[in-house]
Amino acid sequence: MDDLVRIVIQWAHILSGILWIGGGFYTVFVQLPALASMPPPARGPALAAIGPRQIRYILRVAELTIATGILQVIVNPHIRELTLSRWSVAIGAGLVLALVIYGLIRGVIQPAIEGLLTLGPQAAAGDGAAAAQVGVLRERIQRVGYVQIALGSLIVLGMVTARFS
Ligand code: HEM
Repeated sequence: MDDLVRIVIQWAHILSGILWIGGGFYTVFVQLPALASMPPPARGPALAAIGPRQIRYILRVAELTIATGILQVIVNPHIRELTLSRWSVAIGAGLVLALVIYGLIRGVIQPAIEGLLTLGPQAAAGDGAAAAQVGVLRERIQRVGYVQIALGSLIVLGMVTARFS
């Protein structure tokens, strides 16, 4: 029974982690370049359709990954050791990095996308200041996207290291 519970939690955790960090890679390497290559009049409607859905998706799978990660800690036999071991360092580092990425999505990406949705139409109407701000926000999203996939890859390394501890 114990094994079954751990298998279900591990499955949900790995699946949601894949959906989170995989979604980040897809965004950075497929979606953002595709949006940038579109003619400007098409970009606004495309972003309006994709942006809010994307934010909802990424926040929900991130929350699921963190929640199932905490469940993993609770059901893992290592938790009984209560010592500073390779396992606890790897998992602790993974937790901190996951919370950093989550904070960046909420604190930087979400407001940047909302800003783009407001400023995009003004830029398309010829407002130069809005166009400059759109450029800044796009670069910010791209930069945080790279941070997300770099930290996400480190988290996976931490989780795999924990397994071999
Ligand atoms: C982006 C976020 C995360 C990703 C992609 C991720 C991915 C993974 C993967 C792939 C494994 C399986 C490793 C293996 O069996 O070799 C794993 C295991 C695990 N994860 Fe995560 N994880 C993430 C966040 C978290 C968080 C926030 C916690 C909570 C502290 C956590 C706790 C654990 C635990 C306890 C294990 C089991 C390690 C063991 O078997 O000894 N994870 N994770």
